[in-house]
This record gives sequence, structure tokens and C-alpha cells, in this order.
Amino acid sequence: MYKSIMAMSYNLLKGKKGIIFGALDEKSIAWKTALRCHEEGAELVLTNAPVALRMGEINKLAEKVNAPVIGADVVNMDDLKKLFEESMKHFGGKIDFVLHSVGMSLNMRKGKHYTELDYGFTQKTLDISALSFHRVLRTAWELDAMNEWGSVIALTYIAAQRVFPDYSEMADAKALLEGITRSFGYHYALRNKVRINTVSQSPTRTTAGSGVKGFDGFITYAEKMSPLGNASAEQCADYCVTLFSDLTKMVTMQNLFHDGGFSTTGVTLAVIEAMEKAGQ
Ligand code: NAI
Repeated sequence: MYKSIMAMSYNLLKGKKGIIFGALDEKSIAWKTALRCHEEGAELVLTNAPVALRMGEINKLAEKVNAPVIGADVVNMDDLKKLFEESMKHFGGKIDFVLHSVGMSLNMRKGKHYTELDYGFTQKTLDISALSFHRVLRTAWELDAMNEWGSVIALTYIAAQRVFPDYSEMADAKALLEGITRSFGYHYALRNKVRINTVSQSPTRTTAGSGVKGFDGFITYAEKMSPLGNASAEQCADYCVTLFSDLTKMVTMQNLFHDGGFSTTGVTLAVIEAMEKAGQ
């Protein structure tokens, strides 16, 4: 067991220090990413909303990756300031990477259709799922918390570019998230050579993912529409490791598809065959 874990590690993040947002349970993309970053030699701080911490699951991860857990609601600037200050104190220095793996749609949760959005809910959705990224970056910026050539990633979905009706208001939130990535990426590159990207992941069975209506049909369709199949949460974690590493220093302000080829595929044989079958 020990041998096989060691064989997977390339020490890509040796000596690097990172903050991981959004590990709710072992299905979370953030959870898998924390495990991979730890295997690659990184030191970590884990964070999530106080309500998620009360579930207690995150403590199991904290033990595995030997990291403190610091609560922060991503819409609260005081929480974020405290998180970054305490993280720097824990690390004894600045931060090399941040994963923003946070999303929540109030309208979806309350079953409100896109044509009948409650705008109060929408504002909260945009704040938690998109503006929070600006809040995180601004906190790091004001505290000058990032090392030169640091790397920041947020997770997104292709509904920011194409219509997936049941993704509802989250599509708008992801479009804003990707916009903030480009805009802040420009400023942070100039000042500190910090790079900022979004990873656009295949549909994945997690708590947030399964909240999308018709998720089972949706994930099967994506699987058939992707020449390599859907990318798993573990594979997403691997990709994030490369983006946090020094091997991708000149990649910034990008939306990077991690989707088995879905985003550039018009149709696949598997889908045509399924349609022919349905039409018979
Ligand atoms: P998840 O449900 O495990 O993670 C979402 C996290 O957001 C949870 O840990 C939750 O506690 C946290 N969160 C919600 N409100 C918060 C707040 N106010 N303050 C701090 N944290 C808060 O689900 P998953 O799938 O791992 O989601 C991570 C990211 O990946 C999200 O941005 C999601 O939109 C994105 N993504 C997910 C896909 C999927 O199919 N699961 C596909 C593409 C992107």
C-alpha cells in the first residue's frame, strides 16, 4: 500500500503551501484534491463554511493530510481575512496555491425554474458561487499573501458557454466566475506573477453536482458525448496538482476544459447509435 502511494507521487508540490476551500465529504472534488496535494508534498490548510464544519466530516480529511481546519464563510470578508492571516501564521510564510471549490444555488435548491428566479436568492447564489472568488483574491491581494508564481484555481462548468437548461442560474454564476478569473488574473500577474485559472470539469457525482435536476441522465449523456468519457473527481485533482506545480508557470487567465473532449465534440457514434435505437 505504502509503495503504491509513493509510486504515484512526483513530489510536484514539495515545499508548497496551499489553502483548499470546499471539502464537504469524501466525494467532494476539493477532498480528492487535498489528498493529491498532500501526496505531492504540499502543506495544507482546509476551510469550509461553518455550517459544513458542523457536519464534522472534514476532520477525517484534516487528520489524513495533517492540516488545520479554519472556518470561513466565503461571503464574509472578516472570515476570509482571518483565514489568510491564520494560514500564513501556520505556514510561517506566504501561500503558494489556493483552490476555490465552492458553489451553491438557492433557486435550484428551492425548486425555482430559471424563468421564475427569486432575485434575492439569485444575489446570494452569485455572491457565494462567483463574487466569492473576487473576495478571496482581494483578501489575498490586500494582505499580500501570495508568493510570486503562486497559482489560484476555481472550478467551473461548461454551462457558462453553452445552454444546459437545468443548470439554471448557476450558468450565469459560472460565467461571472470565469470573467473574474480573467480580470483579476491580469492584475495579479502584473503585480506578483500570480496565475489564476478556472478548470471546467465534467459532471461529477458530488453533493453539489447531484443537486442539478435530471443529473443521472445528464451524466450518462456527457459520458457518451466525451471521446475519453467523463473526467472523474480524482482526475480533476491530478489536473489541479499540475496547475499548482511549477510546470505550468505561464498558464494564466484561462478557462481550462477537463472533460474528456466533451467541449469540442459535435456528436459521437455512441450518441448516434442511441438515437437510432430510440427512433426504431
Ligand atoms: P461539493 O458539494 O462537495 O462542494 C461544494 C462546496 O461549497 C461544499 O464544501 C460547501 O460547503 C461549499 N460552500 C457552499 N457555500 C459556502 C459558503 N458560503 N462558504 C464556504 N463554502 C461554501 O460539490 P463539488 O462538486 O465538489 O463542487 C465543487 C466545485 O466544483 C463547485 O464550484 C462546483 O460548481 C464545481 N463543479 C462541479 C461539477 C459537478 O458535476 N459536481 C462539475 C463542474 C464544476
